[in-house]
Amino acid sequence: MQEQDFTYEGIQFTTNVYSPESLRYAHYEFNVLDDDIFNVTYPKSGTNWMIEILNLIKHKGDVTLSSAEPIYERSPWVETLPFKDKMNALTHPRIISSHLPVHIFPKSFFKSKAKVIYTVRNPKDVFISNYYFTKMLQGFKKPESFQEHLQNFLEGNVAYASWFDHIQEWMKMKDDDRFFFVTYEELLQDLRGSVVKICKFLRQDLDSEAIDSVVKHSTFKAMAENKMSNWSTMSSEVLDHTKGSFLRKGIII
Ligand code: PPS
Repeated sequence: MQEQDFTYEGIQFTTNVYSPESLRYAHYEFNVLDDDIFNVTYPKSGTNWMIEILNLIKHKGDVTLSSAEPIYERSPWVETLPFKDKMNALTHPRIISSHLPVHIFPKSFFKSKAKVIYTVRNPKDVFISNYYFTKMLQGFKKPESFQEHLQNFLEGNVAYASWFDHIQEWMKMKDDDRFFFVTYEELLQDLRGSVVKICKFLRQDLDSEAIDSVVKHSTFKAMAENKMSNWSTMSSEVLDHTKGSFLRKGIII
């Protein structure tokens, strides 16, 4: 852990993005609405990809929003410091992101009819993606070595703790009809088929042309070329753009 880290219910967080209050707000105070849609992942599993897909579905394939608003504003993370301010700008149904494990997820979700789309990625690729991402993150103590970072990842001594616990907790909801489980690998192998399934889950009736547009604008290439989706607009005080790209490779190793 670094000096500026703190733990909330056993999970470590950094003070540049979170605070004990932002965590408590998300956990206990945030009022989930029945038509909310949560985009939940363990970090580096395809969160931004799903933000792109869900917002395009919401707008029936219309790219106006994804060409105009940075991706991290479109569906902010409920547990982060800026969420309270950003939440008021969200139109309904709100699409809200989160990396929170179940035990500190907004309590009111479990009493609501809101839906969760949970995207899982092979932990090997999650780890590699995370390893390179830490090199871009400003103010983040870089791992001494690949080996050290791997050890930390396997022990759950990283942001949002153990990949294994996260998956195990969330997968307990697998038979709930408000829960949609998809893998990063499925998205990569059959993006169109996955978009069709997500539309069905969300009861969004898109015609073939609209679905084509969702697919076209959520490919790795399209997102990497869209400055509103590739995080290049994020301040260099947060991300050192000389150290890599947020959309790094987008592949299965
Ligand atoms: S974060 O920081 O936790 O929100 O990151 P997250 O968005 O979950 O994950 C980033 C990785 O997802 C890849 N990505 C994609 N892959 C394929 N197709 C599309 N459209 C796409 N969009 C994002 C991104 O490249 C990161 O993976 P790596 O392996 O580092 O390239």
